[in-house]
Amino acid sequence: MTTRVLTGITTTGTPHLGNYVGAIRPAIAASRQPGVESFFFLADYHALIKCDEPARIERSRLEIAATWLAAGLDTERVFFYRQSDIPEIPELTWLLTCVTPKGLMNRAHAYKAAADANQEAGEDIDAGVTMGLFSYPILMAADILMFNAHQVPVGRDQVQHLEMARDIAARFNHLFGNGREHFVLPEVVVDEQVATLPGLDGRKMSKSYDNTIPLFEGGARGLQAALARVVTDSKLPGEPKDPDSAHLVTLYEAFANAPEREQFRADLKAGLGWGEAKQRVYERLEQDIAPMRSRYEQLIAHPARIEEALMEGARKARAIAAPFLVQLREAVGLRRMTAALSASTVKPVAAKAKPPEFKQYREADGRFYFKLLAGDGRLLLQSEGFASGKEAGQSVARLKREGGAALAAVPAARAEGVDEADVVAALDTLIALAAEE
Ligand code: TRP
Repeated sequence: MTTRVLTGITTTGTPHLGNYVGAIRPAIAASRQPGVESFFFLADYHALIKCDEPARIERSRLEIAATWLAAGLDTERVFFYRQSDIPEIPELTWLLTCVTPKGLMNRAHAYKAAADANQEAGEDIDAGVTMGLFSYPILMAADILMFNAHQVPVGRDQVQHLEMARDIAARFNHLFGNGREHFVLPEVVVDEQVATLPGLDGRKMSKSYDNTIPLFEGGARGLQAALARVVTDSKLPGEPKDPDSAHLVTLYEAFANAPEREQFRADLKAGLGWGEAKQRVYERLEQDIAPMRSRYEQLIAHPARIEEALMEGARKARAIAAPFLVQLREAVGLRRMTAALSASTVKPVAAKAKPPEFKQYREADGRFYFKLLAGDGRLLLQSEGFASGKEAGQSVARLKREGGAALAAVPAARAEGVDEADVVAALDTLIALAAEE
């Protein structure tokens, strides 16, 4: 079985070295594994929640897309698209919104943080909170459930959102499943192995700490200048350095192979000066980054190529999303009128029609039930709860044997608006089919 791996990147910033080492590089490597089907998308609807500057959104979408492509993403193999090119996602968001308890959203970290800050400041708890922020986890659940992803690699801060996605999926399955699991329950994957890269000051590299090293911005000079600003201790050239306490070493090791690492450590212990060490780190990083940077610059200069890749990605993704959404719409009762009409006027014996069927299942109350569905899925007959599956099965067997004559003797009621004649006809069809076999 193929494993579907899906993750989204919010398009509000420009990728830095930490994003590359911590997310982009491992995601691309994982997408090359056999048996993996990867979905990577630009979460630009999510970006609108945090950012109301159109120019920034536009620029960030371009830069992030170009970065992933330049870093070697194989768009033939993976699904690479913009969230906002998949209209099925906001549509699914609404279906999910209608089954999501408000209380669940009250507990979402992002919302709670805003509400707590407001409370502390003596403001109305919802001051400055948009419905977008409040419902953020539902949109994210739709991103994931739309493609029935099995695994979702994310940062620690997103774990709660994944739990919510599972809750929402389970609830939808329960309410509208009719014996069918519409959604896979996604698993969160937080990769502890992947290094969190230190920034200039040694804390985790992050825009919010203003300690980032650019990946492509500013070119080779920009990279060199940023590395020159990495904080080190004040040991002079010739003095032995401790490689374990230098985050410059961590930066180097995120790119270097084993022998290179050993050499670097040995040289530092032997007194390599920080200035020279930084030059060596720069040269090693540049080895990997320079070819990507030139692809990146090419792409930025020809945005039509990026646009084309993304539109093709959207086409591929929608080929999955659109039929699935039809199924989900039908499950909640958004069906074609003509389908409903033909179901109540045309007898189930009509040519090529799917035969009626019995379904047996167990409910959350622990009891066993059966129901009779017409060929088009319309509910005809619904049983009461039985203490055992065996008893439910005995009633089904009797209906299949005796047809309409057994209706009065079996604890089951016709669905609203269904004539007894429809039920009898469906049972007759089943008896006739059994006789043919
Ligand atoms: N919320 C995620 C973040 O800020 C981005 C995101 C949006 C996402 N939709 C997703 C991640 C779906 C994984 C799956 O990092």
